[in-house]
Amino acid sequence: MVKNNLHQRKRRAVIAATGSAVPEKILDNADLEKMVDTSDSWITTRTGIKQRRIISDGETTASLALQAARKALEKSNIKGEDIELIICATITPEMVFPSTACFVQAGLNNCSCCAFDLSAACSGYTYAIAVASSLIETGQYNNALVMGAETLSNITNYQDRSSCILFGDGAGAALLKAEENSSRGVLYSSLHADGSNWETLNCMAYGSRHPVTKKLTDQNKIYMQVRGRETYQLAVRRIVEMTEEAYAHCGVSNDDITLIIPHQMNARIIESVVKRLNLPEEKMFVNIDKYGNTSSASIAIALDEAISNGLLKKNDLVVLVAFGAGLTWAVDLIKL
Ligand code: ACO
Repeated sequence: MVKNNLHQRKRRAVIAATGSAVPEKILDNADLEKMVDTSDSWITTRTGIKQRRIISDGETTASLALQAARKALEKSNIKGEDIELIICATITPEMVFPSTACFVQAGLNNCSCCAFDLSAACSGYTYAIAVASSLIETGQYNNALVMGAETLSNITNYQDRSSCILFGDGAGAALLKAEENSSRGVLYSSLHADGSNWETLNCMAYGSRHPVTKKLTDQNKIYMQVRGRETYQLAVRRIVEMTEEAYAHCGVSNDDITLIIPHQMNARIIESVVKRLNLPEEKMFVNIDKYGNTSSASIAIALDEAISNGLLKKNDLVVLVAFGAGLTWAVDLIKL
């Protein structure tokens, strides 16, 4: 999806506020050492992850998403009941149906706006920002609540040391607002997928091809399956490609960008991207040590953290760039 260039003034979707929510319960590397044959040093060296947040009883994808949404609303002058569009990116929804977005909508006492989920795995939030921004630019909506929310612990196999070390739970939210004749907002988005490579990363259960059966459960196929090494190489390539494409389209370089927020998948993947882009390290946002990989929530949480910590301010340029199951990959270049 090719959008507009950097200097054009038009009706745009501007980020009005962000919020995030993670469970209180921490699962650190020492806990995992007691569950599988692994070590803190292996996990830290190979992934950069020190701990993840995991839901407790009563916490769900929608409850985390709602908390994140409420925090964003508190920072804006938009009321929950006035939101016109709600999109929740998730691969671990509250239920098969209704959508997680509908549960959030009910929690915000908003009874008629458009609400739906978007499934693009780790690229979900980046996709959702692009979709919401396009719908705002058309004039159809004046504001939107976009969330990335996951409870990946529900589909993680805690007997598989090569994958259970990676994942965590959490949610992030952004409120987008129309601004007329603006040079700020979502300036460029590019969204991609390659369904022929679906086997690289998947969770095959719960759908119509493989309904959950005892056989599937016994074979551990109700959990995420990750081909780590393949993913690693593809992720680096696509994240670099996407960033360079956004730079070229908008006529910007590393010098113009305040921060790149990549999907938090593996610290070594992020380090390789830094090297290939020749990016000063301080321009790459990393918080994977605290939360692990939270799929569609990862960039949403990171964006909120970067803004809350003062790393990003009004008029700064930020790149959101993701790679995940599908396969999917996507970028948004945003002027805050
Ligand atoms: N602790 C100790 N040893 C381990 C562990 C562990 N937790 N996991 C694997 N090993 C072993 C392997 O068995 C292997 O041993 P061997 O050489 O005796 O066979 C050795 O470590 C090396 O294994 P690799 O898989 O080659 O390790 P690699 O350096 O590739 O790291 C990792 C694995 C961390 C998974 C990496 O490939 C990665 O981060 N890939 C991307 C992750 C990913 O796909 N994320 C997206 C998931 S989908 C989604 O987000 C929804």
